[in-house]
Amino acid sequence: MAKPGIPKHVAIILDGNGRWAKRRRQTRSFGHYQGGRNLFQVAKAARDLGIKILTVYAFSTENWKRPKEEIDYLMTKPVELFHEHKDRLDELDYKVRFIGRRDRFSTDMLNVIETIENTSRDQEGFELVIAADYGAYDELIKAVHQADTPITEETLQDALMLKEPVDLLIRTSGEQRISNFLLWQAAYAEFYFTRVHWPAFRKRHLAKAIKNYQRRHRRFGGL
Ligand code: IPE
Ligand code: IPE
Ligand code: MG
Repeated sequence: MAKPGIPKHVAIILDGNGRWAKRRRQTRSFGHYQGGRNLFQVAKAARDLGIKILTVYAFSTENWKRPKEEIDYLMTKPVELFHEHKDRLDELDYKVRFIGRRDRFSTDMLNVIETIENTSRDQEGFELVIAADYGAYDELIKAVHQADTPITEETLQDALMLKEPVDLLIRTSGEQRISNFLLWQAAYAEFYFTRVHWPAFRKRHLAKAIKNYQRRHRRFGGL
């Protein structure tokens, strides 16, 4: 069987913002700030490397459990940054889409999400999918309610927020768990764990993960 080429769909669990900041005697918020900036650098790198879809886990349905101060930062800073850099929206030359719940964000945050999605809707070639207030339990329960009947692998998959199977799933910062991310889509994903914290994750780390992936033998249950 041929070894895999460039993975079409890469997913990354963006973990370690807090630990990265702590090591630098900075606040957790600073870690989130640098992690957010890094996202757009890595998206460009992914596109340059020939990846077609990059799905990133930015905020889970469980992350609301965090202290109020951290939640406030995560829910207000992106809106503030968006308005500061609004004039650069034209530079967005790939599609950006959000998956996850939409009923717990502020109106300001929803406006930012919708503006980014609408502005980039017609871009082709590369797509960045941002999972925000996303949880696979929530996605699967919604899909079961919305799927055409009879429920089959095809109809259920079609009702998911994200339909494309993941080829390579990366988690930064050393933890080796899936934390309620893409349970269905990652059924046959190759997993890659790195100790590098998300704000320090660069193109060369992504290239290394892809090289590692290309040495693997994907069997999908066959031989
Ligand atoms: C990932 O970094 C970002 C979010 C979950 C919002 P963390 O905030 O989980 O960073 P650590 O794991 O505490 O270092
Ligand atoms: C997973 O990271 C969620 C995101 C990266 C958005 P967490 O830091 O929340 O995961 P756990 O709690 O360590 O499993
Ligand atoms: Mg974490």
